[in-house]
Amino acid sequence: MSSQPQSASSSLSIPSYLHADDLGPWGNYLRQVDRVAPYLGPLSRWLETLKRPKRILIVDVPIELDNGTVAHFEGYRVQHNVSRGPGKGGVRYHQDVTLSEVMALSAWMSVKNAAVNVPYGGAKGGIRVDPRALSRGELERVTRRYTSEIGIIIGPNTDIPAPDVNTNEQVMAWMMDTYSMNQGQTATGVVTGKPIALGGSLGRREATGRGVFVVGCEAARRTGLAIEGSRIAVQGFGNVGGIAARLFQEAGAKVVAAQDHTGSLYKSTGIDVPALLEHVQKTGGVAGFAGADTLANEEFWTIETDILIPAALENQITEKNAEKIRTKIIVEGANGPTTTAADDILHDKGVLVIPDVVANAGGVTVSYFEWVQDFSSFFWTEHEINERLERVMREAFTAVWQVASEQQVSMRTAAFIVACKRILMARELRGLYP
Ligand SMILES: NC(=O)c1ccc[n+]([C@@H]2O[C@H](COP(=O)([O-])OP(=O)(O)OC[C@H]3O[C@@H](n4cnc5c(N)ncnc54)[C@H](O)[C@@H]3O)[C@@H](O)[C@H]2O)c1
Repeated sequence: MSSQPQSASSSLSIPSYLHADDLGPWGNYLRQVDRVAPYLGPLSRWLETLKRPKRILIVDVPIELDNGTVAHFEGYRVQHNVSRGPGKGGVRYHQDVTLSEVMALSAWMSVKNAAVNVPYGGAKGGIRVDPRALSRGELERVTRRYTSEIGIIIGPNTDIPAPDVNTNEQVMAWMMDTYSMNQGQTATGVVTGKPIALGGSLGRREATGRGVFVVGCEAARRTGLAIEGSRIAVQGFGNVGGIAARLFQEAGAKVVAAQDHTGSLYKSTGIDVPALLEHVQKTGGVAGFAGADTLANEEFWTIETDILIPAALENQITEKNAEKIRTKIIVEGANGPTTTAADDILHDKGVLVIPDVVANAGGVTVSYFEWVQDFSSFFWTEHEINERLERVMREAFTAVWQVASEQQVSMRTAAFIVACKRILMARELRGLYP
């Protein structure tokens, strides 16, 4: 085998079940891996490992709808890499979920878990379903059937799902119950992000947004930006974006723009975040909020800010809008919000991008705390959790910042260098089986 890394377009790197000319998010991930290849030294002989998910399960999820008809949904669980520990990653419910997307998300979980040094591999799951179109009963049936179908590869010691877009504590409770019923014993450690009453962790719900806030403050501190009075824009006002917005506002920043799937808002003096969160809770989106002006969606990206937080979906910052972005720091709350082409444009413009694999790792970090607490049946205080979370996030940020300065690379490439070295070192030490 050649020691040269394969390029994203190499046929060796592209499994037959994907189309080489339309790789989707997986293609974006492959390009990111290619960028790190020159920095891996002798470990680059294992690079192809990162370009091949270890295991992919595609399942049919049939349920009876409330009107008596039967509907079928496509479900996935991808375990990208388990060299450093069991698979770990969320489950996404979205009508546009694809295999390529779940593959990329699972790979970013491998990188993220290694970047913050929690003892997990990377995995991800998804169902191609619009949960908003389902009743609560239908949602429960979809969740239970999906959990049962992927039950053959998940488990507290093998692969531990968690919430992602459009899934929440209730969905995790149903997943935990379904897995437990099939096992004949309660297995709280099979999922994280559970309700507190079922072995969930204090601080988990806020953890990703809190982590975004912590690394945002670190990035600001190192670039001489004061958070007090700074202008923030947030795309996605859900779990991640909503919490991050609230914490930045509490620290004295102004959230001047917000966007979600229902529309965009602007207020130069700062939106009242708790009021907007209440509005979103009641109406399902930011649209119609009386406390700010409505903004055309494409204008959202042109608003002048100090920190921009994409916290919705992937591929939001592309070569089409990157040029127009006027901000100093981008903190990626979402997974994969920036394409590689956009990354280059932002780099040339001098925008500091704190990559998803570091910026949104707060969620998986507290998921790790939850899993440890479940195993020991001993629960920590919220203060202990937040303190440990902040320490993990700061340490990860500092390690990546150092590599970025030493190697003169972007924070994303630096995070990939740190993480891929850890994954491939584990691969090398374990050796190839048989
Ligand atoms: N929840 C976590 O712990 C966690 C952890 C790490 C990463 N993430 C990532 O953060 C992102 C958001 O996750 P979440 O848990 O906050 O989900 P969520 O479902 O709570 O919120 C998603 C938000 O994105 C918005 N959105 C959806 N489509 C949009 C569009 N086309 N344009 C603008 N906004 C749109 C929705 O309106 C909503 O406000 C995802 O990329 C997810 O993978 C989440």
